[in-house]
Amino acid sequence: TLPKSVRIVEVGPRDGLQNEKGVISTEIKLQLIDKLADAGVRYIESASFVSPKWVPQMGDAKAVMTGLQRRPGITYAALTPNLKGLESAIEAGVEEVAVFGAASEAFSRKNINCSIAESLERFAPVMELAKANNIKVRGYVSCVLGCPYDGEIPPEKVAEVAKALYDMGCYEISLGDTIGVGTPLKAKAMIRAVANVVPIEKLAAHFHDTYGQALANLYAVLEEGVAVIDSSVGGLGGCPYAKGASGNVATEDVVYMLQGLGIETGIDLNQLVATGNFITDAIGSTNRSRVGLAMSS
Ligand code: HMG
Ligand code: MG
Repeated sequence: TLPKSVRIVEVGPRDGLQNEKGVISTEIKLQLIDKLADAGVRYIESASFVSPKWVPQMGDAKAVMTGLQRRPGITYAALTPNLKGLESAIEAGVEEVAVFGAASEAFSRKNINCSIAESLERFAPVMELAKANNIKVRGYVSCVLGCPYDGEIPPEKVAEVAKALYDMGCYEISLGDTIGVGTPLKAKAMIRAVANVVPIEKLAAHFHDTYGQALANLYAVLEEGVAVIDSSVGGLGGCPYAKGASGNVATEDVVYMLQGLGIETGIDLNQLVATGNFITDAIGSTNRSRVGLAMSS
């Protein structure tokens, strides 16, 4: 059965923008975050405290997180791969962060320069410091439906890494189809394997639309009981360490589908579409939301 409501985790300002080559001013990022809040988005992943040598576009994380007009009831989160990242995030007043691991060894090395086991060891002190500062930590697992380097990933491997992050204290585990290669029955099988070891209400679907499968995959996992969806306004995005990874599924497309299914999100679709047009115009990219395009013509 389908959930009655879904919590949207908007990752546009982070996952959406991290791979853009051109300079995007902090001001544009702040405007995007504000417009998302206006549209009713309640969780906005806003920045990433990673090495600026690795991901230059996120180099202004501190300016973004301190420049935000915080509103009550909205979570503004940031990625923190290690203690250095979390320390910077704390200085910037961040109240929720995310660590990110992978179900694939090769991707783990390319993305965060260490093995899966080493990444889990690195996250342990991050979890400790976060707890001491009352900061909630979300956990990501990448490459849950395939890896650009290792190919097929067994669902059991995804479950193992998800459980490790959950046991470590991550309150929610976001399962990333980083390169968008999944199809609905594979997505269901993966969710079932993970739900055997982590409660289903603690799982989020983070699907990319590279092969045009994201909505179909989301529908498949909604049927399994997943009720948290990560998406990116305008379908912005890609991952710097996964060649060909196009954007996350567009938030507009997800909200349109959920509305049609009678599932609440609390988001105003018209304002969301305007926000997708704003950011894609501002950075000179094409709007990859089909709903955004249809509702703007
Ligand atoms: P490293 O080179 O192994 O780290 O990088 P290190 O500890 O050896 O440090 C090297 C240098 O980086 C040092 O500077 C550190 O100070 C600096 P130097 O002495 O050379 O001048 N450094 C940092 N600077 C700022 N913030 C930090 C930080 N840490 C070290 N936190 C590291 C390891 C993880 C830092 C690096 O590999 C990195 O930054 N990777 C970024 C990966 C990334 O951001 N990927 C995209 C996000 S993940 C994603 O998109 C997938 C997801 O959406 C889900 C999905 O779709 O599947 C989440
Ligand atoms: Mg992603």
